[in-house]
Parts: sequence; structure tokens; C-alpha cells
Amino acid sequence: MKFTTAQIVGLAAALSSTAAADLVKGFNYGSTDSSNQPITQSQYEDLFKTAEGLKGTAGFTSARLYTMIQAGTPNSPIEAIPAAIAQNTKLLLGLWASAGQDQFNQELTALKSAIDTYGSQLGDLLLGISVGSEDLYRDSIMGIQANAGIGAGPDVILSYIKQVKQLISGTALANTPITHVDTWTAWVNGSNADVVSSIDFVSVDLYPYFQNTMANSIDVAKNLFWDAIDQTQANAQGKDIWVTETGWPVSGPNENQAVASLANAKTYWDEVGCDIFTKMNTFWYTLQDASPVTPSPSFGVVGSQLSTTPLFDLTCPAGSSSSSSSSSSSAAATSSSSSADPSSSAAATSTEATTSSSDPASSSAAASTPSSSAAAAATASSAAVSADDVAKSSATSGPASTSEAAPATSSAAAAVSSAAPVSSEAPAAPSTTTEAAPATSAAESVAPVESTTAPVATGAAASVVASTLSVLGLAAFVSLL
Ligand SMILES: *[C@@H]1O[C@H](CO)[C@@H](O)[C@H](O)[C@H]1NC(C)=O
Repeated sequence: MKFTTAQIVGLAAALSSTAAADLVKGFNYGSTDSSNQPITQSQYEDLFKTAEGLKGTAGFTSARLYTMIQAGTPNSPIEAIPAAIAQNTKLLLGLWASAGQDQFNQELTALKSAIDTYGSQLGDLLLGISVGSEDLYRDSIMGIQANAGIGAGPDVILSYIKQVKQLISGTALANTPITHVDTWTAWVNGSNADVVSSIDFVSVDLYPYFQNTMANSIDVAKNLFWDAIDQTQANAQGKDIWVTETGWPVSGPNENQAVASLANAKTYWDEVGCDIFTKMNTFWYTLQDASPVTPSPSFGVVGSQLSTTPLFDLTCPAGSSSSSSSSSSSAAATSSSSSADPSSSAAATSTEATTSSSDPASSSAAASTPSSSAAAAATASSAAVSADDVAKSSATSGPASTSEAAPATSSAAAAVSSAAPVSSEAPAAPSTTTEAAPATSAAESVAPVESTTAPVATGAAASVVASTLSVLGLAAFVSLL
């Protein structure tokens, strides 16, 4: 079959616009608020409605979750699901995968229950299912050195992926794409290649703000972002890459040259967000992380009062998202150009990354730095079971997941390098973290049952710990560099 040039051009244009129109735009949602209270169905509905009606934007109709379990319950399906069905919000489900097989069984129980209860109503809304969040990072040399908390290695994640595929087989969710969220350092690590092979798309978390061992001012944030995407893409085995977390704090401590401010949050939204919203499936971090307590750093584009009026203007600059239909391939192109930009730290980073490619260990480290922060956020979030808990605890600090992560992050940051300021947010975080640590270990070593009993607490603790660890891990990694 032959095509004329005009046909090809037309086809390309059609695909391009279709792709842009079909791209996922959403936010991350933990299972608890910033005071560690479970988020209820009606609250999720309010959040989803707010995201969809956010002034200056359109199309934020998707949500990423960190756990299948409703906070405060052993294994009841998270109430974000009926809320999403009520609001027609698309979902990227998540199962927390770093608390051992027993706790993962609770995640599976909640998933099975959700399928039994909602069936195709749920299946029709699903963008995918993520088995885990930053588990590989936490279980890596970097994560361990950073005391990032309990993670899980590739064999465990592969086993869990298989379990999820078996569970959904023959159900209304049978065709749901499966993914795993991790830091880019994890994705460039050749030891994790089998995980890449086993998933349908690669999900990565990226936070230039946290890359505090590098030049990371808002001026080079875009370059850092694209460099990390490039490194991830080089190891993605040709699979699609989704950005599952990225964002810039509206308030909080400085991280090296990164300054948390409304102005910089807007710059990052304009230069990174508005660019990728037309090129890649994205879950921004985040809609709201400041209810009822404002975490430090705080990433929410909406303040402590839920409102469709954001803290800064989210209207994309002319020529960014709207004009970007040609940008589908931009991810690659952009990254290339950024790497080529000598002035950017991205270039430096990429060089390292490149170098490291030959040295898996080093490259991972480099790669992970960016992701770590993201991971931290993600991790925190993901703790889900804990995630929920995390979300709750984190809630203060950031996205559900993030919120939890934030506190952890602060600690991590403080420990690692400069981040000390962050701790301020964490009134809750410190205590949470402390408590969480014991809980987490106990949960893991002792028994999943505990988690069942006190899902929330354990989860939160785990999340916090994870977050902290992630952050630390990142910092540690950076120092190594
Ligand atoms: C690479 O991945 C493996 C398996 O996840 C992990 O054990 C190892 O620590 C990682 N290497 C680095 C340098 O992070």
C-alpha cells in the first residue's frame, strides 16, 4: 500500500492531534490528608471536580493512586474508585509493593474486591495499574546507603506483576496495561531490565528541585528534566514513558540553587508542564497537599482551601501546549537539544549518564538522583497502604503521596545536605517518621497482619520512611557524584 506525501502528512497531523487530545493529564492522590486522616469518597469527588474545573486549564481528568486500600481499613478498596466512577475520572491504580508478600496480598484482596464490586465500570476508567512505586530505588545501593527504607528488588516486583496479571486475567480489567513507577536511576540500571520487559509502559518520577548536588536553579530545571527523560528513554526498550510525578514547590526550603516560590512553580509549570502536557502522559505533583496542614516543601497548585482558583496562573503560554501538536516526538528532540546545550547542567548530567551507561552502577546513581526526589514523593505516596497513611501524613507536605514524602524528604534533605528548612513543614513528619520506622520494620518482619490491623498507621509510617529514604538516597547519590 502506497501513500502520497499529502496523505502521509495528513495522517501524521491526524495522529499528532489525536495523540495530543488523548494524552493523559492528571494529579497524584494519596489515601490520607496532611493530618493523616483517610480521604473519603466525597472528598475524592471534590478533588476530582476541582482538578477538572481548575481555572486556566482543561483536561485534568485523570488521577494516579498509590494504593488499592482505603486508609484505615485492612483491605477495603480505596474510595477514590467510586469517586472516579461518579466523576468519570480516569485512573492509574497503584499497589504498594514494599511491605512484603502478606501486605501485598491485602493489596490484591482490595483489587479483587474492587473488580467484583465495580467490574467494567472500573475497567472502563482504567489507564493502567502500577505495581509498586520506587521500590527498586529503595532497594538499590543508593537507597540502602541513604537508609531510604524498605524497598523491593526486581525479582519481587516481577513476581508481584505476575500475581496482578493472574488476578485480572479473565476479569473486566483483563486488558489493563501494567506498569511500575520508579526513579530514572532505577530505569537505567541494567539489573532492572527484566522489569522493563514485563511492563507495558515505563513510569518515571522527576524532581529537578531535589537534585541538590547539581546546579539546579529554576533556569536549568527544564534541562535537568529532559536529561532524565532521555536517560530513561534510552533504557525503556522502546516502550512509552509516562511522567508519574513532577512539579516544583510553591513554598519551602531552598535545595541548593532551587528556590521554592510561586514564581518558580509557575515557571516550571510553563516550561515543563505546558511542554509535556502535549507530548507525554503526565500526573503532576500536585493538586493539593496543604489541607489541613501546609507541608514544607508544598507542591500544591491549590492552597489549603480547595478551590478551582489556583495559587498561580496555570494558563499555558501561547505556543506551548496549544501549538505543540508537532511535539509528539519532542520528548526525544527536546532532550537531545537540552543535552546539547553546554550551559545547562543537563549537559553535565547527561555526560555522566552517558558515561555511566557503560557502567551500570554509576549510571544508575546519576540517573536516580533526579528520580529519587520524585521517588521520594512517589515513595511516600506509594506507601499507600501506607500510601494512604503516607498520604495522610504527607498530605501536609504534598500530594497524597508526596505529602508523606515531603516530610520524609525534609529529613532526608536535612540529613543529606541543605534541605534542613524542609523540616519545618514536618511537624507531623518527624513524629510520623519516627513512629513509622518501627512500624514498617515490624510490619515487614513480623507480619502483614499488623498492617491489616493498623493499615493506616503502618502505611503512613512506611510511606514516610520511604520518602525520607528516597530523599536521602538521592542526596547520597548526589554526594557520590
Ligand atoms: C541496580 O539494580 C539492582 C537490582 O535492583 C540493585 O541491587 C543495585 O543496587 C542497583 N545498582 C545501583 C548502583 O543502584
